[in-house]
Amino acid sequence: MQELLAPIKSFLKCETPQAWIDEAIKPENLSIVLLDHLICELKAAQSAMYLIRKYAVDKESGDALLEWLKPFESFAYRKEGDWRELVKHNTLTKSMLPKSGTPYGQDLIDKMVLLIKEELHHFYQVLELMEVFDIHYENITSSRYAKGMIRNVTSYEPDTLIDKLIIGAYIEARSCERFAALAPHVDKRLGDFYISLLRSEARHYQDYLTLAEEIAGGDITGRIQRFGEIEAELISSNDFDFKFHSGVPV
Ligand SMILES: [Fe+2]
Ligand SMILES: [Fe+2]
Repeated sequence: MQELLAPIKSFLKCETPQAWIDEAIKPENLSIVLLDHLICELKAAQSAMYLIRKYAVDKESGDALLEWLKPFESFAYRKEGDWRELVKHNTLTKSMLPKSGTPYGQDLIDKMVLLIKEELHHFYQVLELMEVFDIHYENITSSRYAKGMIRNVTSYEPDTLIDKLIIGAYIEARSCERFAALAPHVDKRLGDFYISLLRSEARHYQDYLTLAEEIAGGDITGRIQRFGEIEAELISSNDFDFKFHSGVPV
């Protein structure tokens, strides 16, 4: 576990504040932690899918991708369907071919399709745990965290794509760090689940970073540093809205 976490901790510009951990392990906050975690898994799948659709595949492949996500979105946004059925829907029925003129297309597709599959599986696993702890699904608002980074994305390509990949790396790295921080303090069933997530989230962070570096084809240390500072500010400043990626609870 320490081996997995070492590169993540040096990538992040600050550790999760103790005050956030103290708040997150309060029994009365279990439902908000799990509900927000659930939605984060769906959003992770959605943003990866957006990147493939925008940058790597043609319309037909894009439509097949959207179909894959539909039952998960219907459940999350309209409470439609039985969540237990979702496990059967986590399949992409069509093979994805990169559209011409995108040298990085195949790598983006390969990494992101695997990531989406894993995030949707995590989504299902969070629902299983919510059942265990008798937490019912309800819609919640999203935190300031991802929006706070997206706001700083460059407005021209390919920098827009590179920035979004760097943001993806930060979100994955922070999630991984928080799962590890929470694991020893929560119910063993939940702690074991968090530990089981570390390996895939650590790989997701690495995949985003590798793609950003490949696509940039040059040094992006400065951009990574910039988003690292923005991310650290969102994590270490006061935040009135307690969520999985929120700042210091007020
Ligand atoms: Fe995940
Ligand atoms: Fe992930």
